[in-house]
Amino acid sequence: MNKKLSVDFLGIKVNSPLVVAAGIMGVSYSTLIKMYQCGAGIVTTKSLTIEPRTGHKGPIIAEFNGGLINSVGLSNPGIDDGLKEVEEFKKNLSMPVIVSIFGSSAEEFEKLIKCVNDSKADFVELNLSCPNVSDEFGIPLSASGEAIFEIVSRVKKISKRPVIAKLSPNVIKIKDIAVLAQKAGADALSLINTVGPGMLIDIKTVKPVLYNFFGGLSGPCIKPIAIRAVYEVYSCVDIPIIGMGGIMTGSDAVEIMMAGATLVGIGSGVYYRGVEIFKKVNREMIIFLKENGYSNIKNIKKLDKLNG
Ligand code: DHB
Repeated sequence: MNKKLSVDFLGIKVNSPLVVAAGIMGVSYSTLIKMYQCGAGIVTTKSLTIEPRTGHKGPIIAEFNGGLINSVGLSNPGIDDGLKEVEEFKKNLSMPVIVSIFGSSAEEFEKLIKCVNDSKADFVELNLSCPNVSDEFGIPLSASGEAIFEIVSRVKKISKRPVIAKLSPNVIKIKDIAVLAQKAGADALSLINTVGPGMLIDIKTVKPVLYNFFGGLSGPCIKPIAIRAVYEVYSCVDIPIIGMGGIMTGSDAVEIMMAGATLVGIGSGVYYRGVEIFKKVNREMIIFLKENGYSNIKNIKKLDKLNG
């Protein structure tokens, strides 16, 4: 651990600003422990639903020139078994865990929050923006400012944990949604979720590459969208932001912090650089700090906020 990378997030000190993004490393306690050993500052679980889900039929993920496309379909063991993994994690390691939850309505989110209240989770992240289950649940909640306001308000009334709202980039004005989430009491925001949906066709078989046809895009091609979204949102909220979307290197991490992020999520980067990416990006950030005269990552200059 290098002190130059320690940051404060909602009252706790974390060893690195790097966060394992939701869904990337599942929910098994042993995998989550490994992520700390690999240099992450906070881990996020795969989104947990009330009942277990097997997810979509494969192929569920594919690579293209510039990124990944996925339609996992929220496969997870369900909230009860998922939280048991978190408990086991905490028996082994006293590092912070963000539990991501997915509900299809405010009532479902309330039920999930009650389970999280009785768990060892440090933070709860509301996945309001899964792009891959609209056939089951309709348009993602994240598309509606009113739905976001209602869910976050109701969750905040009962949550014993700080609430992080994860927002979708697939909206016309993300800053309007972010302002409503803050007004409803969100303690922090996480952005961006995957972009799209998109689609790929296998030209030999003349079939969609993904079994489910459509999927969310991630990886290097979405970084400029993430930087723009974080900057727009940072310009109009006062709560901390976990910025993510295409972060591969220490320079990318610094860039999204300059746009306004306090913490930096890494997801698809694990595909490109392996689980060691957290150590590598930590090292690259330290080199940046040294070369540019910063004593600590906290002191990274942020852009001036946009007016209006
Ligand atoms: C899934 C969920 C997400 O929130 C996302 O961004 C991508 C995929 C899923 O499980 O399908």
